[in-house]
Amino acid sequence: MANSSQRQLVLILDFGGQYNQLIARRVRECKVYCEVKSYTISIEEIQAMRPIGIIFTGGPNSVYLPDSPKADPRIFQLGIPILGICYGCQLLAYHLGGRVVDAQEDPAGASAREYGKTETLFDTSIRLFSGLPEKGVSWMSHGDYMAKAPDGFSLAAHSAVCPNVAIADESRGFYGVQFHPEVNHTENGIKMIHNFLYQVCGAVGDWTMEDYCKIAVRELREKIGDGRVLLALSGGVDSSVAAALLAEAVGNQLTCVFVDHGLMRKNEGDEVEAAFAKWNLNFVRVDAETRFLLKLAGVDEPEHKRKIIGEEFIRVFEEESKKIGRVEYLAQGTIYPDVIESGLGDAAVIKSHHNVGGLPDYVDFKEILEPLRLLFKDEVRELGRELGLPDYLVMRQPFPGPGLAIRIIGDITKEKADMLREADAIFREEMAAAGQDRLVNQYFAALTNMRSVGVMGDGRTYDYAVALRGVTTSDFMTADWARIPYEVLDRVSVRIVNEVPGVNRVFYDITSKPPATVELE
Ligand code: XMP
Repeated sequence: MANSSQRQLVLILDFGGQYNQLIARRVRECKVYCEVKSYTISIEEIQAMRPIGIIFTGGPNSVYLPDSPKADPRIFQLGIPILGICYGCQLLAYHLGGRVVDAQEDPAGASAREYGKTETLFDTSIRLFSGLPEKGVSWMSHGDYMAKAPDGFSLAAHSAVCPNVAIADESRGFYGVQFHPEVNHTENGIKMIHNFLYQVCGAVGDWTMEDYCKIAVRELREKIGDGRVLLALSGGVDSSVAAALLAEAVGNQLTCVFVDHGLMRKNEGDEVEAAFAKWNLNFVRVDAETRFLLKLAGVDEPEHKRKIIGEEFIRVFEEESKKIGRVEYLAQGTIYPDVIESGLGDAAVIKSHHNVGGLPDYVDFKEILEPLRLLFKDEVRELGRELGLPDYLVMRQPFPGPGLAIRIIGDITKEKADMLREADAIFREEMAAAGQDRLVNQYFAALTNMRSVGVMGDGRTYDYAVALRGVTTSDFMTADWARIPYEVLDRVSVRIVNEVPGVNRVFYDITSKPPATVELE
């Protein structure tokens, strides 16, 4: 679905900055719709999008290097306000006749490299900073220095070491800030973005989930007509919300296939099924435990497990689709972070995250539907609530496609899966009871392949050790181990060794990512 409702749009041009998605989320938090595009987008495409404002992101380069990413200079002739952040600010200066140099090579700027929190003084008569305190902390991260602002620009903020922390050309609505208003460390940063949107670009705040939901349902109805839709429902937040949206739009023209590979958490299948009971959709629950466990028997290499599960999932899905007959549309729960093109290419792959909602090669559908492709995760959750999905589904922590398979170190058996399911359920129950479930972004139990000696009653035991893992993170790319209170860990440990036969020891994983990963495999 495109931005077809004529809602206002802000374009974020990505120059490879690490915070590009954060900028987009901030803009949307201000109730303004935005899209992130690579800086290579053509000027014609930009014009066709009719943005009310443009934001240049930061980036790792120096503008004065010959092959650093640049903007098409015609962008400055469009009459559209621009906010340049960090590299984006230097780019504004570079293109419009200012001078940017390496701070260390310029006598005046020798000490003007700034990293981290910096006390800044703002000219609050400028629209970008209006209504703000004159003094505040801003988050800097720049090694280059703007030795001369372009003609027509005034200096709008300064710090003790840098005379031009921000520049402004109020008449054209062009602003550049050397710091990052999008990060929490910058005091009033969101207010600055809000000012740019509302005071400079004329935003009206027409991005709300209620509207989005109504429009999306209408558009899906128009598009699908009396066609049939198939969706692989994993029980995760994204595929669940996609299913609810489609169910709302086309009811029983939708078939959801939920493949239970026997490596789900305790009660997972029942919970998912119950959540969709209020819609008149076709819910197919496939009990495929035996065939998955058979394929996985004796396999202990993590990537091999992922591959087997991914392939088997596709086979099951394929068989079920054949039973359903001809369907015109295959729906997927793809969300915006998956589709944002980076301005500067891809990062290295550490694990082949096979998303079991993935697209089988054989598919022979008229079209793929991705009704969430414009939304960030928190917006997906909001939409889920809007559609009446229960909180336990909407607020669900991420659960990997291969499920417990990558939480059982080494080879997998049904006994081990059952043991882990019980231990994990106890951990989740106690975390929720202690109110920790909202504080820790992902937490789970894993079954180590280690057995050790213990004593229970009067007898010696030689049983498995369970590892508990809890992490705090915002993007799952890096994570810190969660400081779960000892009392909670204690209760979980006591309950697991008492209630789960075969387990006599419990560890808590205190490694962050990197060097560890979130999952143990
Ligand atoms: P790692 O272990 O790579 O995990 O630090 C980061 C996030 O990704 C999830 N994860 C997966 N998700 N298929 C998935 O759909 C996978 O194979 C997979 N492996 C890890 C993990 O749960 C965490 O949220």
